[in-house]
Amino acid sequence: MRGPRASTAGRPGSIEGMTDTTSRPRVFSGMRPTGELHIGHLFGALANWIRLQDEADCIFCVVDLHAITTKYEDVGSVYDDGLLMLADWMAVGVDPARSIVFRQSDVPGHAQLHLMLSMVTPLSWLERVPTFKGQIDELGEHLNTYGFLGYPLLQTADIVLYRATQVPVGQDQLPHLELAREVVRRFNHMFDRQVFPEPQARLTETPLILGTDNRKMSKSYGNSITLGASDDTIDTLVRGMVTDPQRVRRSDPGRPEVCNVFSYHKLFDAPADEIAEIDAGCRAATLGCVDCKKMLAARVKDRIGPIRERRDALLADPAGLEATLAEGAEKARAVAAPVLADASAAMGLTRHD
Ligand code: TRP
Ligand code: SF4
Repeated sequence: MRGPRASTAGRPGSIEGMTDTTSRPRVFSGMRPTGELHIGHLFGALANWIRLQDEADCIFCVVDLHAITTKYEDVGSVYDDGLLMLADWMAVGVDPARSIVFRQSDVPGHAQLHLMLSMVTPLSWLERVPTFKGQIDELGEHLNTYGFLGYPLLQTADIVLYRATQVPVGQDQLPHLELAREVVRRFNHMFDRQVFPEPQARLTETPLILGTDNRKMSKSYGNSITLGASDDTIDTLVRGMVTDPQRVRRSDPGRPEVCNVFSYHKLFDAPADEIAEIDAGCRAATLGCVDCKKMLAARVKDRIGPIRERRDALLADPAGLEATLAEGAEKARAVAAPVLADASAAMGLTRHD
């Protein structure tokens, strides 16, 4: 049979051909392996992922191929960074027993579906994705490649290979999700069947987290507290934090609302009564910045210490991490197989009824 079938598009969880009968939505998200993760990731994307594991069937992917779209001239660290990132994920609570956790290049369906989707994707759609020209302007002409142009289409393939309907991402990824939805609509329309559901972005509500120097948190600035930071590193970073610039002398009253140290106290879950004490002490100049920072450093060390220990234990056993990825890839391939079969049939590559 060829011809329109009853449309179930746009109704997550009721997609034709989906085998699971649970009503939990399927979530897909990915992160490029680019080195150690920091508290920006912890309180942003990862906190969200960990929460989602309770309410959705989650698939989390180490997108190493995406990393290579920008790092192809220097791929030396991609493999190790992937294992490092997995250890960071697991140390904070991403759970391979409950979620599918795997590495993109271990599941060839990503590359295969990317190629298939590329047949129906007008070049102009990719050229107008703002990150394409933006990143070339920012990072250079070496990004003017076929692979980098296809970055958001590979991302589309990542998501729809599992018929995921919800995609937790930050604001910067919205144009990529819009492209994914357009490509899905075009594919389904072109081949006259609802092969893929349209994925929805699920915006991560991230508090704005500045680096310890009040600039944007970035590895190259050395202003971020990483998930593997030692107690000494934490002490040094916190001691150097920028405070209220108007508080020059210890006796000057401070303004906690403009102070990043105060934001960090809240970020690291200081209890309400301690927040109130710091607020009052700062304004009355009864609390000095040195002491305020000592309290913060203790709080950060309490939080990061156990994460660092779990992470180091995981990293001490690379074979164990590889085994986790291998299991994840097997599960991922099983979910992807019927979708690839449907897409191949829809495109006329295999026989279909
Ligand atoms: N482009 C995403 C980022 O830089 C990473 C990514 C790749 C992704 N594939 C994905 C995110 C699929 C969500 C879903 O953050
Ligand atoms: Fe910031 Fe604390 Fe100093 Fe107030 S006392 S300015 S909150 S570091």
